[in-house]
Amino acid sequence: MRTVYVNGEYLPEDQARVSIFDRGFLMADGVYEVTSVLDGKLIDFDGHAVRLERSLGELEMASPVTREELLEIHRELVRLNDVNEGMIYLQITRGAPSDRDFVFPDAETTPSTIVLFTQNKPGLADNPAARKGMRVISIEDMRWGRRDIKTVQLLYPSMGKMMAKKAGADDAWMVQDGFVTEGTSNNAYIVKGNKIITRALSNDILHGITRAAVLRCAAEAQMEVEERNFSIDEAQEADEAFITSASTFVMPVVEIDGTKLGDGTPGSVATRLREIYLDESRKAAI
Ligand code: PDD
Repeated sequence: MRTVYVNGEYLPEDQARVSIFDRGFLMADGVYEVTSVLDGKLIDFDGHAVRLERSLGELEMASPVTREELLEIHRELVRLNDVNEGMIYLQITRGAPSDRDFVFPDAETTPSTIVLFTQNKPGLADNPAARKGMRVISIEDMRWGRRDIKTVQLLYPSMGKMMAKKAGADDAWMVQDGFVTEGTSNNAYIVKGNKIITRALSNDILHGITRAAVLRCAAEAQMEVEERNFSIDEAQEADEAFITSASTFVMPVVEIDGTKLGDGTPGSVATRLREIYLDESRKAAI
């Protein structure tokens, strides 16, 4: 049984409790982060901590812990649960007032709720899916307008994954005004020659921590990066495509809406970037 963290306590998972009035539960009024663990160490902890602070700030939500405490909690959970490869999920909500109300509760009397738990995933880095590649479908992006804030409001992304599953695919890329925004839980890229193309940062997409690291790796490897919109048509004609996220790192995409990219196997740019990213991340892990 896992040991999880809830509001200052480390508890067996079946004893961890949150109120039915918690605004995360009633209103999806909460933010989250997913940090991966390789060799028992945290990948890009600072990047996730900075984005968490930004998400909280944008929603005028107080952090119940300092960044140092957060690091300590992550490390303690890795230790207590003996995680070598996997993820740590963190969620902070606007707490549990004494009743349901649309108006934000006073932060003085209603402290935020903080929950963290580990997900053990042996083989996360040596994922066979990276050798096979993913198949994606395109769907309309029907999410709200502040996708740069990492909120727990994940109903549409969940529905998107289900649409993909029903279509026999692995994931969905969302499209707004004719251009790909991102995957249901990852950032999206296409490759043309030696050039990597991905949508520029704005409120339309989550500012991926893996995205930032991978674009740094690409620049160091003398690959060209162009941050601009691309359509599904352009993607289907690209040499390669891939996604990035904390849980998948760099994952090749080999098919979009039934159209195979190139010969239908993972491309060399995506494969190389995955190796470079994993190498660099392991070196910098804390
Ligand atoms: N998802 N875009 C969306 C919509 C996401 O949900 C995520 C992450 C990303 C990639 O961000 P990062 O590289 O910082 O993980 C992009 C996490 C992994 C999840 O919901 O499980």
